[in-house]
Parts: sequence; C-alpha cells; structure tokens
Amino acid sequence: PIQPVILSGGSGSRLWPMSRELHPKQLLPLHGPVSMIRATLDRVSQADRYLPPIIVTNEALRFAVAEEARIGGRSTRIVLEPCARNTAPAITAAAALAHADDPETLLLVMPSDHVIGNLAAFHALVEAAETAARQGQLVTFAMAPTRPETGYGYIRLGPPLTEGGAVHAVAAFVEKPDAARAQDFVARGDHFWNSGMFLFSARTFLDEIYRHAPEVGAAATSAVARAMVDLDFIRLDAEAFAAAPSISIDYAVMERTDRAATVRGSIGWTDVGNWNELWSIGTRDEAGNVCQGDVVALDSRDCYLRSETGLIAAVGVENLAVVVTDDAVLVVSRDRAQDVKLVVEHLRAAG
Ligand code: GDD
Ligand code: MG
Repeated sequence: PIQPVILSGGSGSRLWPMSRELHPKQLLPLHGPVSMIRATLDRVSQADRYLPPIIVTNEALRFAVAEEARIGGRSTRIVLEPCARNTAPAITAAAALAHADDPETLLLVMPSDHVIGNLAAFHALVEAAETAARQGQLVTFAMAPTRPETGYGYIRLGPPLTEGGAVHAVAAFVEKPDAARAQDFVARGDHFWNSGMFLFSARTFLDEIYRHAPEVGAAATSAVARAMVDLDFIRLDAEAFAAAPSISIDYAVMERTDRAATVRGSIGWTDVGNWNELWSIGTRDEAGNVCQGDVVALDSRDCYLRSETGLIAAVGVENLAVVVTDDAVLVVSRDRAQDVKLVVEHLRAAG
C-alpha cells in the first residue's frame, strides 16, 4: 500500500474573510459539505490501497486537524512542526518516519487544500505513476495550464519513460516563473502546471534531499530521531527542526533533481487559491451566479455570493464576489480576487 502524506501548513490569505490564521483554508468546507482536509483524507480512504495517512501540521492547528481526522473516522499519524520551515523539511520528516517502517514505502504527498473533481481519474493517475516511483523516480502530477499563472511550478515534458507515454521524464522544472516566462510556457504548449502532489519512495526522496539540500535532510531526520510521541501527536524536536532552512520541495529538490518524472491527466484539479476560482468551479444558476447561504440576487450576473450569516441581497451587479461572515463583509471584483491578500496585509499593518 501507499503512504499518504498530507501537508497542512499555510494560511490562504486570499480567501479572507473565511480563511483566518487559526482557521485556514484546509479547515473550511469551501467547496462541498466537508472541510478541504477531510476531503483530502477521504480521497485516500481505501484501506487495502492506502496506509493511515501521515499529516504534517503545526501546534496551533493540531486539535482542529485531529478533529477533522476523527470525524472522518480515519486513523492518522499527526506530525507537529515546532516552527514553519516550508514543505521540504515537512516532507523530509514524513519520509524519515516512513523510511523507518520500510525504505521502499511509496509516499503520496498531497496538499490539504486542493479540490479534485474527478476521483476515478485521480486514482488512475496515481496508479499510472506507481511503477516509475518504485523504480526510483520522483513522480509529479502535471496539469494542463489554462492561464499564465505565476504562483505555480511549471513542468516541461521530456521523453516518454514508458511505452504508450503514460509517464514522461521531466526535462525542466521551473518554480514560480515571472509573468513573461509563464506566458511563454503557456504559449509554447509543452509546459504543464505542477499540481503540488508527488509520488516517490521514502528512500528515493531522502537520497535526493541529502544530495540537493543536505541541511534540510540532516535537520529534519534528526528532528524525527529525537521526536517525542505525545498522545496522538508526534512532536518533532524543536532545536533540530529549527536548524532546517525554510525552503519548498520545489526549489530544494524538483528544480535540481535529474530523477523527476511526470504523469498527466484531467482530474478536475484546482488549488482554489481565491474566490474567483470557487466561482468558476461552483454550480452556477441561469444568470451565472454561484449563491451559498441566504442569498437573493436580482438582475445580477456572474457573481459569487456567499453568506455564512444573515442575508445577502444583490441588485443589478455583475462580476462581484461578496462573502459575509460573523465579523466581516468582503466585496471584491471577481477579476481582482487575487488582491484580497492586500486586505489581510493592510489589517496586519494596522495591527
Ligand atoms: N506542514 C507544513 N509545513 N505544510 C506546509 C508548510 C509548512 O511549513 N508550508 C506550506 N505547507 C502546505 C500548505 O498548507 C499547502 O497544503 C502545501 O503545503 C503547499 O504549500 P503552498 O504554500 O500552498 O505552495 P504553493 O501553492 O505556493 O506552491 C506549490 O503548489 C502549487 C500548486 O498549488 C508548489 O508545489 C507549486 O509548484 C505548485 O504549482
Ligand atoms: Mg498553494
């Protein structure tokens, strides 16, 4: 079976006012009835195929995360980071734990805050990736790009590694290119988005992290060796983990390795980074509005209207996202949805 590793760190400031520091995106039911992290756990619930997931998270989120796993009826190992060091140390810690069980264990690394609309296609893609991962490749899951997004990693396809071309080598991996490069990549048509999910063996990943980012390897594995098990939580050693540089897997390993491979597929993937993306994957009425909660929309078009409390009444407006919570109201033009993070920055600066 495969060992799922679920990353639950970051805070998602573009989904304010629902997403807050202590209540980040992955804990919210942003799309559908359950939280994004529960949907992620459910995705790998088939017990003959997937081991109990390892979730890597932090002290502040530990009870909320444990509760989501409990409600989902899933046994998990919850690894707690004493400080945030980005995804490379987090994944290394999980790999070191799994390596102690069996070095050949395959790890399926998944962010906790993405939507995957087509589960059958997702499982087929994981299956397609398996042989290459067992043979020592770091397999990425490539998605066809629909816009020159600068917040993603880009994968340039290399030659096929298998007959039929289900798995390709990665010719180049470029994390978060500038706008000009992103535009060029999308125009050329031979680049794909990195979805942020990975399949590799614990052994291969640890080899590659020691080769390309030895300080991360040393710090995170010694934090695991000196971890304290406390109730359901595995607390990484604070001093050892703090010595890791803060770096993502994409910069630390994927841009540097020559053992990257990729599988492509349409799995209905989106990382739901902002309210506009929720509008585009939501169920729209005849006027193009996505309404959630208590909403009346008259002569209004193409809006995302979401109330967690009270009534939203909209008249004669277009292309807006309006989100109402207990203590805040957001009104933003859908094409400026990326800029909601400015609100959070503004509020932080104002104290
Ligand atoms: N445990 C833990 N600790 N998790 C973390 C940490 C951390 O320090 N930092 C981030 N995470 C989690 C986030 O919660 C998220 O689920 C996942 O790791 C990815 O981190 P992001 O911060 O969201 O990365 P990104 O969106 O900038 O970029 C990554 O994802 C893109 C696709 O959404 C990269 O892999 C890109 O290449 C990729 O295109
Ligand atoms: Mg992300």
